[in-house]
Amino acid sequence: MKKIAVFASGRGSNFAAIWEQVKLGSIQAQVMCVLSDQVHPPVFDIAQTHQIPTHWVNRKQFSDAADYAQFLIDLLESYGVELIILAGYLKLIPAPVVARFRNAIVNIHPALLPNFGGKGYYGLKVHEAVISSGVKITGVTVHFVDEHYDQGQVIVQEQVAVLANDTPETLARRVLEVEHRLYPEVVRAICNEEILNKNGKVIWQR
Ligand code: GRF
Repeated sequence: MKKIAVFASGRGSNFAAIWEQVKLGSIQAQVMCVLSDQVHPPVFDIAQTHQIPTHWVNRKQFSDAADYAQFLIDLLESYGVELIILAGYLKLIPAPVVARFRNAIVNIHPALLPNFGGKGYYGLKVHEAVISSGVKITGVTVHFVDEHYDQGQVIVQEQVAVLANDTPETLARRVLEVEHRLYPEVVRAICNEEILNKNGKVIWQR
């Protein structure tokens, strides 16, 4: 049983999709806590309904960046966390936390990285940029997290066609359907030790 922490800033539909599979026992994990930079995002309601502890932790609560990073590490260690899942988390993970949880933090992005990623590419902005660029294919990327926004080794990508009459909203909906299937699959595989990051190379033994 891997001990998981989920970091999320908003709606929490990816967390809900993962939690569903944890409850069913198809993901061998225990969700220890949900953490957010927001005071009370919708994802906290989902977590609290299922008696999962929630924590509001924001850089602004700390005068010192090092204290903030250490607080996060101490909190995660107090739960024995082994894997951190970013699910719509909008803040950068501090470098000391990345170092402590190297190859044990994953993120999902609603486009095919390295395109349409990085600071400022979140929510509908991603899909707006995809549509206005004129590309015909977008998709979903799940990747390990490093010190930079939307970088780090790619674990898996899946394509989604951009249709001629797509709006950012219709495209977001189809991409999200893929996210809800793909992210639990990746989390399951990591918990089963099927995905390894060896010297910067991701190997998924399916
Ligand atoms: C998803 O589109 C995810 O790819 C991105 O943020 C969104 C979060 O949605 N990182 P939700 O909060 O999981 O519903």
